[in-house]
Amino acid sequence: MADLAVRLASLELRNPLLSASGTFGHGLEMQYLSPPERLGGLVSKTVSLLPRPGNKNPRIFETEAGFLNSIGLENRGIESYLASTLPEVATADCVIFTNIGGEREADFVELARILDERDEVDALELNLSCPNVQGGKLPFGTDPKTAESVLREVRKVTKKPLFAKLSPNVTRISDMARAVEAGGADGVTAVNTLLGMAVDWRKRAWRLATKQGGYSGVGIKPVALRCAWECAQAVDIPVIGCGGIRSAEDVLEYLAVGCTAVQVGTASFSDPALLGRLAGEVSELLDAAGIDSVCELIDCMERPLPASV
Ligand code: FUM
Repeated sequence: MADLAVRLASLELRNPLLSASGTFGHGLEMQYLSPPERLGGLVSKTVSLLPRPGNKNPRIFETEAGFLNSIGLENRGIESYLASTLPEVATADCVIFTNIGGEREADFVELARILDERDEVDALELNLSCPNVQGGKLPFGTDPKTAESVLREVRKVTKKPLFAKLSPNVTRISDMARAVEAGGADGVTAVNTLLGMAVDWRKRAWRLATKQGGYSGVGIKPVALRCAWECAQAVDIPVIGCGGIRSAEDVLEYLAVGCTAVQVGTASFSDPALLGRLAGEVSELLDAAGIDSVCELIDCMERPLPASV
C-alpha cells in the first residue's frame, strides 16, 4: 500500500485529505460517514468573536455544476466553540484546524490569541476570503498589504501554524500568496469560492437574498487548480488545494501541480462519506501507478516521467 503521509508545515498528516471549512458541520457531525481516523485533518466552519446569525434566506442555490452560497459566516461565536464544539472535536483522531474570521484585523488577532491557549487546536486557518460579508468587498482577500498585515499581527500572538485561505476573486493570486508568506503564514489554502450570481428571469428574482454569493463545486475546478498552481509557484510555504474536488483523480491532480494537501468541500454535501473513502481510493491509484509514496507526486509536473510510465 502506498504511503499517504505528508508533512504540512510543522504538521504530520496521515494523508493529505482535509475537510473544507463550512462544508463538514461545525464539529463531528460527519464522523459516522467519514470517520476522522481516515482523514488527515478537520477544518472547522469559520468561528467569529461574537455569534453571527448569517444572511437572510434564500442563501443556497444549486447550479448546473456546483452551488452558490451566501451563508454569511453563521456560527455561535468563540465562546460557544470553546465550550461545546472544541471539546468534542478534540476527541477526533486527526489534525484539528480552527478556521477564524472577522471584520477587523483586531478580530483575527483576538481569536488567535484566545485559541493559542488551547492545545486541542493544532493549526489556525484565517478566512481572508469569504465573499458573503461586507457586501462581497473582501477587505482582507484582495489587498496584499492588508492581508500581510493581518498575518503579521496574528503571528505576534500565536506560535500555532497559520494557514491563510485565499480568494480567487483577484487579478493575481500569487501576489496574495507572497503577501501572506511575508506576513508569517506557514501555508496557503487556495481557494475559497468565486463570486457568482443566479437569477430567475421569469419572476425577476435573485436566487440568493444577497444577490451575489460564493460559487463552489465541480465547475470551479479548473480555476481553482490554476490558482493553487500559481500559489505553489510563487511561495516556499506549502499550499492546500481546494475547489471542485470529488474524486481521487482530482486529489492527485492538485498534488501534481504543487499542493501538499487538499480540502474537499462542496462534494461532501451530496456525498458525506466521500472524504472517508478517498484515502483508500488514492492508495489504489498510486498502487496501480507503481508509486510508493504520495509525496513523490507533489509538484511533479515538470519532472521526467518514471521509467514505468
Ligand atoms: O458565507 C459563508 O459562510 C461562507 C464562507 C466562506 O466562503 O468562507
